[in-house]
Amino acid sequence: MRKILISGASRGIGKAITLKLLKEGHLLSIGVRNKEDLINTPLDPKSNNPDSFLVHTYNATDKKSSKKWVEKTVEAFKGIDTIIHCAGILKRTNLIFSDNEIQDIEDLWKVNVIGPWILTRDAWKYLSINNSARIIVLVSMSGKRSKGNLAAYSMSKFALMSLCQTMRNEGWGKGIRVTAICPGWVNTDMAKGINYFPKEEMTQTDDIATICSNLLDLPNSSVPFEITVNCQLETTF
Ligand SMILES: NC(=O)c1ccc[n+]([C@@H]2O[C@H](COP(=O)([O-])OP(=O)(O)OC[C@H]3O[C@@H](n4cnc5c(N)ncnc54)[C@H](OP(=O)(O)O)[C@@H]3O)[C@@H](O)[C@H]2O)c1
Repeated sequence: MRKILISGASRGIGKAITLKLLKEGHLLSIGVRNKEDLINTPLDPKSNNPDSFLVHTYNATDKKSSKKWVEKTVEAFKGIDTIIHCAGILKRTNLIFSDNEIQDIEDLWKVNVIGPWILTRDAWKYLSINNSARIIVLVSMSGKRSKGNLAAYSMSKFALMSLCQTMRNEGWGKGIRVTAICPGWVNTDMAKGINYFPKEEMTQTDDIATICSNLLDLPNSSVPFEITVNCQLETTF
């Protein structure tokens, strides 16, 4: 049984992972922007229970919100041994962007890179004393190759991948193992504007949840650093 912080659990990939890991008996502390979004769902904050799950307010753009979330979680669970970073945004900002798109680039940087960096920093001392902690990060194939014209999104995901490599380097001796999951299209709100590829042929959220669950079963000696998940043929692995 792990004590897990998970961001981006209100929808999409994060929600699927949360529901699966809850069923498997892990303790989950869910960080969401609006707790109200979860009312009358299986993650209703009114069912907050330190023996199964907690819901906290977390906004990746607010530098202070992760510290509070981490502290409240440690108080309730008596520790944290896993972080799963699922919060993220996609903006279709091209290389030659217009003046009013500079904000999109800044938002991508804040949510996709600085947010997970600060959350990891704030939880690091708890992960470090565990000797078999895990950090799972939803990166993307866009963190491995730049395809099409998603310049700003790809920039943020390459930076996130670099952060994953550093977390791995600095955490290795403390038993922290890091995995960057790199999917192509996953059938969530983020991919709903994709019309050239059928939704049912995209990777499904439950399959990413299965990958996460399997990762958590592996010992320190066998955790893969990078998992590419392709629903279309890619020439970069
Ligand atoms: N879907 C894909 O095709 C795909 C492919 C590769 C990688 N990924 C990556 O996988 C991760 C999850 O994506 P998804 O498909 O599940 O997306 P999604 O369905 O759009 O969900 C995004 C999640 O991130 C949260 N979020 C957004 N901005 C936030 C902020 N400022 N602070 C805290 N939480 C914030 C959202 O919360 P709210 O409900 O409050 O908005 C939501 O829970 C992202 O990092 C994404 O880049 C997705």
